[in-house]
Amino acid sequence: MTVESVSPEATPRAPSELREPPVAGGGLPLLGHGLKLARDPLAFMAQLRDHGDVVRLRLGPKTVYAVTTPDLTGALALSGDFKIGGALWESLEGLLGKEGVATANGPLHRRQRRTIQPAFRLDAIPAYGPIMEEEAHALVDRWKGGEPLDCTSEAFRVAVRIAARCLLRGDYMDERAERLCAALATVFRGMYRRMVIPLGPLYRLPLPPNREFNRALADLHLLIDEIVAERRASGQMPDDLLTALLEAEDENGDPIGEQEIHDQVIAIVTPGSETVASTIMWLLHVLAQHPEQADKVCAEVESVTGGRPVAFEDVRALRHTNNVILEAMRLRPAVWILTRRAVIDTSLGGYRIPAGADIIYSPYAIQRDEKSYERNLEFDPDRWLPERAKDVPKYAMTPFSVGNRKCPSDHFSMAQLTLVTAALAARYRFEQVPGSDDSTRIGITLRPNDLRLRPVPRDTP
Ligand code: HEM
Repeated sequence: MTVESVSPEATPRAPSELREPPVAGGGLPLLGHGLKLARDPLAFMAQLRDHGDVVRLRLGPKTVYAVTTPDLTGALALSGDFKIGGALWESLEGLLGKEGVATANGPLHRRQRRTIQPAFRLDAIPAYGPIMEEEAHALVDRWKGGEPLDCTSEAFRVAVRIAARCLLRGDYMDERAERLCAALATVFRGMYRRMVIPLGPLYRLPLPPNREFNRALADLHLLIDEIVAERRASGQMPDDLLTALLEAEDENGDPIGEQEIHDQVIAIVTPGSETVASTIMWLLHVLAQHPEQADKVCAEVESVTGGRPVAFEDVRALRHTNNVILEAMRLRPAVWILTRRAVIDTSLGGYRIPAGADIIYSPYAIQRDEKSYERNLEFDPDRWLPERAKDVPKYAMTPFSVGNRKCPSDHFSMAQLTLVTAALAARYRFEQVPGSDDSTRIGITLRPNDLRLRPVPRDTP
């Protein structure tokens, strides 16, 4: 998966030649498409392509544009005519801060990307190898008893620990990572609720769930302040993201403000935990549901390592493991919906998009589309073998997005996911236990509702 530069409209059309996108079918008077979108968003987004390449949705009084084809989602993500915006981002900004890279636009965003990018470059990743290995092995070592696993908290824990220990190094991080896990888990639950059920002032009432949410959010902000203050007090400047932020300068060559450092740490650790954790949950699900694939991953790990614990240096050789991860991310992309806002009157695929319009698209729908994938719903990691992957249409597989908002952490994420998957499959087989609920929970990310697995050691006859 690479970023490729294409012009969104190869030959820009005169405004008079542009068409209005059709309105998607099935809308109700007054409610429009809102009810369908709220009831079953995945199915709703997946059928939109039948109505057109770009379609209009009526969400209450608002018109939202949905883009449904791989090439147009690529064009949208790569075009300078659109910025980050829409309800999702506004709700994130309100809770997590306005000065972080994930919600900034324009020159501020470009400067922030320049600051954080070195910490995620391909050549920076080997320095994180020892921590990723340690955490992957610690995860599987914790499970000696064969007790059923609460996969949600296990996956969340390892994802937060890796992000925090790699990017915000420090001895104090061990204990902090545990607090970060607890705070982030509660904040994510509450943020999604506030996004889909916008009850405004009701969330300010002193009810137990609101109090729990506010406590977790306050602890998250406090933790970040503590981490920054302790790093400053230690006088240490390890080569990591936090040092890059503490040394960053604004356009005038002045150090960036405290608020921006704070918001930046939140803007990076927050998406970095939930997305990786959700993907690990789906990978655990794959290992349990497709034991033949789990055995294949185990055999690959053994042939590459000769039986020693899997190490960072092995990641590149674990080709099939990588393809299992890609296939899990194709069918269950953590980031299942994305939004943009048109900055000017513009167009996509010959359709008129007015300035200020909100546009949505779903990597979930794009990556499951039968027009792009043969046997589209089948779990088939071998479709990522080079001779077959070349037939996948451009932008039909972009779990990390493309363009200037592309996830900075694609290499970082793939390295940790490979190590974790390899460590899991080499040590255990997994079985779902009664009470496990592997139905899809739709939140800011997609994850299983409550996956519970029994790890069965492979050396047990
Ligand atoms: C942005 C996916 C892991 C930090 C994004 C975007 C996607 C994505 C699709 C683009 C959003 C858009 O186009 O609007 C994923 C997936 C991950 C993952 C699938 C793992 C499986 C991480 C990790 C970190 C991270 C581990 C950091 C530790 C960010 C940041 C942005 C971002 C800071 C905002 C970039 C910007 O707006 O310039 N991610 N991500 N992500 N991701 Fe990730």
